[in-house]
Amino acid sequence: MGAYGAWDVYINNHKMTEIKIYQDRECLAQAAAEHIIESGTTAIQNRGRFSLALAGGSTPKAAYEFLASDEYAQRLDWKRVHIFWGDERCVPLEDPDSNYRMARQSLLDHVPIPAKNIHRMRAEEEPIKAALEYEGYLRTFFSIRKSFDLVLLGMGDDGHTASLFPSSDALNESVCWVTAVEHTNPPPPLVKRLTLTLPAINAAAQVTFLVAGASKSQSLKHVLSPPDQSSPTLPAQLIQPLNGQLLWLVDEAAYSGKSKQYDTI
Ligand code: 6PG
Repeated sequence: MGAYGAWDVYINNHKMTEIKIYQDRECLAQAAAEHIIESGTTAIQNRGRFSLALAGGSTPKAAYEFLASDEYAQRLDWKRVHIFWGDERCVPLEDPDSNYRMARQSLLDHVPIPAKNIHRMRAEEEPIKAALEYEGYLRTFFSIRKSFDLVLLGMGDDGHTASLFPSSDALNESVCWVTAVEHTNPPPPLVKRLTLTLPAINAAAQVTFLVAGASKSQSLKHVLSPPDQSSPTLPAQLIQPLNGQLLWLVDEAAYSGKSKQYDTI
């Protein structure tokens, strides 16, 4: 799946970020499925397993649906895939807002992954307890290998990612990998969530954003621009893997804040 445009962003000659732009949401979702397969195949070849943290949201969901199709699903050795979540709403398992439920329905129910390889956040429990439990779980799982092979992220119109919202105290977390947050925007009811923190996400070998739709263009432009002291830092800007790769897969509508012309490659 060819991208319309692709850029590498360098700061002080150090490659920081790769950006690929697709014609529309569907092309982006298909490219994301391809990317997951490639990343998974490489991880399994090199390390014997593939640890993948899933995002919630409509853009990631479309990618999971491609991944679940026969054409894609048969290309991954699902016995060696381990699924985690980047964030979860504190709702019952069958709630339409559950990210676990979304992932099950769009992907996990359709691929031969062993149940023991599905490591969900137990967000139906008391949030602080559930965050501590997932933290312990991750620390044990990754005791030898340091962190996730791939973390998928969406981005909200306000620049939030996972459940790291603008101005949230969770953005200051520097030790814990998982925390409980409360979020009131959109307005009530107040929603409790669990989320991976910046230290957890930034420890990953690869972090990939999936962003589609014109409503994201302002935030995306902000996030992809050089840091600017005069404007607030959005959570998505704080995703900077320490030793890993950062990739943005975006559609033209999300990118349309920029006037740059590009050729099909
Ligand atoms: C969630 C995620 C959130 C999401 C973005 C993008 O909703 O579960 O926490 O970070 O990935 O809001 O969602 P869309 O792709 O639906 O815009």
